[in-house]
Amino acid sequence: MHTFPPLVAGNWKMNGTLASLAEVDALMEKLSGVDPACDVMICPPFTLIHPMARTLGDSRIALGGQDCHWEVSGAHTGDIAAEMIADLGGAAVIVGHSERRTDHGETDEIVRKKAAAAHRAGLVAIICIGETIDERKAGRTLEVLSTQIAGSLPEGCDAANTIIAYEPVWAIGTGLTPTTDEVAEAHAHIRKELAAKVGGEDEASRVRILYGGSVKPNNAKELMGVENVNGALVGGASLKADDFFGIISAYL
Ligand code: 13P
Repeated sequence: MHTFPPLVAGNWKMNGTLASLAEVDALMEKLSGVDPACDVMICPPFTLIHPMARTLGDSRIALGGQDCHWEVSGAHTGDIAAEMIADLGGAAVIVGHSERRTDHGETDEIVRKKAAAAHRAGLVAIICIGETIDERKAGRTLEVLSTQIAGSLPEGCDAANTIIAYEPVWAIGTGLTPTTDEVAEAHAHIRKELAAKVGGEDEASRVRILYGGSVKPNNAKELMGVENVNGALVGGASLKADDFFGIISAYL
C-alpha cells in the first residue's frame, strides 16, 4: 500500500509581494543539491500563486492556497474557488486555519464544506485543528480535537486527499510549543479519531498529520521526530529561505 512522505508546508499568510519570489529562488537553490525525505510546499497569498508557479517551473516544491470558498463560482466578492487554485497549478489548499476560524467566524461546518470543495476540485485539503490556551488549561484539548475532527472532515476523506494540521492556537506565532509528550498525545488521539472518518485504522495510519505552531530550524528535528508527526505547517519561518530550509533539513 502506498505510503505518503512527510510534508513540510509553508503558510505565508498575508505576507509577500513579487519581490518575495527571490526567497523562492534561494530555496530552490538550496534544495538543488540535496534530497530531503519529505515533500515541500508553499502556500502563498492568492496574488502570488501564479507568479510563484512560474518561478517554480518543474521544481519539487508544490503550491497550495490558504483558503477557498465552497462554491465553484458565483456572487461571492473577494472569495476564491478551489477550482481557481487548481487552475493555477495548486495541489492543495489549507482550510480551517485558526486565524480564519477567528477572523472570519468559520465554523466546523464551513470548514467541512470548504474541504469538500477542495476534494471536488482535485486538491488535497489541509484541514487545521487545534485547541486554545483556555481549552488546554481546562483539560479539554483532546475533546476539542475530537469535536473538530467530527465536524470539519467531509465524507470521502482518505490519506491521498486529506492532511490534518494540528496547530495549538496558543503556539501560533508565539514562540511557544507544546512538549514532545503533549504533541505525541494530541497526534495519537487525532490518528485514533481519524479511523472513523477515513474508513478504518489502516487508512488512518497513512494520513499525514502535520504539527504547526512556532516550528523553527532549532526545534524542527525534535518535533518532527515525535511519533505520529508527519511533517510541519510553518508560518513565520517559511518566509525566509534560510529558515525554511533549516526546517526541511530535519528530513535530510
Ligand atoms: P508560526 O509558524 O508563525 O507559529 O505559524 C504557524 C501557522 O499558523 C501555520 O499555519
